[in-house]
Amino acid sequence: MADAEALKRQAAARALEFVTDGMRLGLGTGSTAKHFVDLLAERVAGGLKVVGVPTSERTRDQALALGVPLATLDEVPTLDLCIDGADEVGPNLALVKGGGGALLREKLVASAAKEMIVIADATKHVEMLGHFPLPIEVVDFGIPALLPRLEAAIASAGCSGALDLRRDASGAPFRTDQGNVILDARLGRIPDPARLAAALDGVVGVVEHGLFLGFARRVVLAGTGGIRILERAG
Ligand code: A5P
Repeated sequence: MADAEALKRQAAARALEFVTDGMRLGLGTGSTAKHFVDLLAERVAGGLKVVGVPTSERTRDQALALGVPLATLDEVPTLDLCIDGADEVGPNLALVKGGGGALLREKLVASAAKEMIVIADATKHVEMLGHFPLPIEVVDFGIPALLPRLEAAIASAGCSGALDLRRDASGAPFRTDQGNVILDARLGRIPDPARLAAALDGVVGVVEHGLFLGFARRVVLAGTGGIRILERAG
């Protein structure tokens, strides 16, 4: 297993220690969350009783194949814990998510959970968000009309950068599980994430963005020196 994968798995294994019998769990999306689902399935096979609400079709398929009991957010609208990865973890455990395109369902599932724990290898921990392109999920209707409004909102938060329509391997626009498209904002730096999130929330046509502020209670970071758990103050 490549080093990064081993670290992701270590973070996932540590987060599994927070899972107890009877929990309703949000199951994240991405390569780190995939390790968590693998390890959770082993515990389920050993008798752990949980029900998982997946944040993507991909995670749903994986969990189903491994025998993890599943429900939808319609069936189980409140969750005890959500475990998910992140693309960046910044000050005050602010996150950028959505590199895998599942940000909308991830945010909905995390919002339904009493607590969110993020799992990541230590390279995801940054002093300022923004190096990783910020995914912005938008409706596929009138994007040329949306772009200047989106650029103005981004500028109002002191940021700038290209907005690239995400494409899949075939070159077609990438579609989220909700059928929307994603603009990746290459901002470089996001000095005031709360200001940017508020500005993006105000743009008609933006369905959701990848800034997760005030969501993560804990972040389990696995590095070559071991595991560190960051906790959000307040
Ligand atoms: C999926 O949409 C993302 O939010 C992922 O949770 C995030 O990209 C982390 O993915 P990796 O664990 O693959 O880095």
